[in-house]
Amino acid sequence: MNIHKVVIPVAGWGTRSLPATKNIPKEMLPVYNKPGVQYVVEEAIQAGIEDVVFITNRDKSAIEDHFDYNLQLEMVLERSGKEEALAAIRQVAEMVRIISIRQKRQLGLGHAVLCAKDVVRYDDAFAVMVGDDLMFGMSPGIRQLIEVAQSERLPVIGVMEVPQDRVSRYGIISGEEISPGIYQVRKLVEKPRVDQAPSRLAIIGRYVLTPEIFVHLEKISPGHGGEIQLTDALQGQASARGLLAVKIRGMRFDAGDWAEYLTANIYFALQDEELREDLVRRLKPLLG
Ligand code: G1P
Repeated sequence: MNIHKVVIPVAGWGTRSLPATKNIPKEMLPVYNKPGVQYVVEEAIQAGIEDVVFITNRDKSAIEDHFDYNLQLEMVLERSGKEEALAAIRQVAEMVRIISIRQKRQLGLGHAVLCAKDVVRYDDAFAVMVGDDLMFGMSPGIRQLIEVAQSERLPVIGVMEVPQDRVSRYGIISGEEISPGIYQVRKLVEKPRVDQAPSRLAIIGRYVLTPEIFVHLEKISPGHGGEIQLTDALQGQASARGLLAVKIRGMRFDAGDWAEYLTANIYFALQDEELREDLVRRLKPLLG
């Protein structure tokens, strides 16, 4: 099972992050010194992925521009001898190949994935990563899924246990644990009510799918919130050929949640040796 491409849907409105995202794509909000989407792309690269397929809209060109050269800025940095900054921005331009697809109407995550059909349908499998979900750990989250997909030859989704009072924010799964941390998925429900969730295992934004998913996506009707839900198509996949879920090891931040977004910023800033001491000194009095 070769996996070369990742589909990253970025056409959402970012309403949870307004007013910050009125004119800036939510994926471009910085997490410490990089836009959030760069962490997602870097995670994909660390897992051996070469092509990024952005499912985008008319207001999101800043994302594609970020992964392209900016010759004017390069010239300015070159002339002023700012070698380090120059290398950093060139490296971003060269990290990955970009394919952009317009999602002309925002009809849901399932619809966004369906927009990628013509680009990935001849691949053995492809990854899907949600731009809001930032993951860090010893092994890149998406790689943990790819390893299982390749050994079991089945599509795999990433899950994490969440507190009971948060289940209604996620797609929730249930199934049998076939080996430690790996589940044969039986049931999936998109954003269930707290008292109706089949478990506390929440889908987080990492998936390894096969082109078979398009058959299911084309069959389903709008689900939760009137949107074409990827979770509903995955139910078709689970009932037909099978679907696995892997408990991802590592930390996850939902960049659309202010508390998690700000924690992610502090977490990354603290990793920077030059900043750490000063930051801790300034934060301490704020914490009272
Ligand atoms: C989407 C999926 C949901 C999943 C979540 C993870 O929801 O539909 O199943 O749990 O991503 O971030 P969204 O957050 O786009 O509403």
